[in-house]
Amino acid sequence: MNLFDLTGKVALVTGGAVGLGAGISLGLAKAGADVVIVTSNDRSREVEQQIQAMGRKAHTIIADLMDESVLKSVVDKALSVFGKIDILVNNAGIIRRTPAADHAAQDWHDVLNLNLNSVFFLSQLVGREMIKQGSGKIINIASMLSFQGGINVPGYTASKHAIAGVTKALANEWAGKGIQVNAIAPGYMATDNTAALRADEERSSQILVRIPAGRWGTSEDMQGPIIFLASRASDYMSGHVLCVDGGWMAR
Ligand SMILES: NC(=O)c1ccc[n+]([C@@H]2O[C@H](COP(=O)([O-])OP(=O)(O)OC[C@H]3O[C@@H](n4cnc5c(N)ncnc54)[C@H](O)[C@@H]3O)[C@@H](O)[C@H]2O)c1
Repeated sequence: MNLFDLTGKVALVTGGAVGLGAGISLGLAKAGADVVIVTSNDRSREVEQQIQAMGRKAHTIIADLMDESVLKSVVDKALSVFGKIDILVNNAGIIRRTPAADHAAQDWHDVLNLNLNSVFFLSQLVGREMIKQGSGKIINIASMLSFQGGINVPGYTASKHAIAGVTKALANEWAGKGIQVNAIAPGYMATDNTAALRADEERSSQILVRIPAGRWGTSEDMQGPIIFLASRASDYMSGHVLCVDGGWMAR
């Protein structure tokens, strides 16, 4: 019996076409899941094709998740294609870097809209379906800035602290209904999200020297932890924020 087997499960991964989301979508498919990828642009076909090449089903939905009014149609579309959602990964997220004193209101609102509001309202819509089916796994993508303050990213830090809170709030309400809600807090990972940081030689070397593993993380590093939290192996875990950070938080 394989505790990590996801055969027959349907996963919905927001931002599942690039960066960490691509690693997550591919990891879930490797473990047996069919995957609905929600993406804000049309770059997703490569991951969709890789999933299909593994013999799994994949379907892409293009949607701007900052627009709360589209969330219901995203869930309805996923349900009409695969009939159910067993796993929701709230991965889509943006970051806007400017010092707090200069942080534009629009940047603050955009970051909170995508990184927090869409996560809660999508979880609410999918959670209702999971309550009806009596099972489900919701995995939110948090951050080191769910614990720390960061530099020049006040909106992002606020959103990721809130993600840790929402994860626990939903976990408390839904654990008794067969739904586990947990989060993964990635450390410093080499994706578009951190391109500006990695391009800044001083910040980049300050970060690298503090990572015990001695390297930036990759989207593949997300795969084991996501399969664990999406599978039966973690059925008694609820409201946990799992750091996947090469040891950053332990330092
Ligand atoms: N890269 C890191 O070091 C790091 C560290 C901690 C947490 N994270 C988090 O991991 C998640 C993925 O980040 P990433 O590093 O892969 O970044 P990325 O920039 O490579 O990908 C961001 C994803 O969000 C999606 N997205 C952006 N705006 C959207 C919108 N309006 N509607 C729908 N989707 C939208 C994009 O399509 C893309 O798939 C984010 O939540 C991010 O905060 C990343």
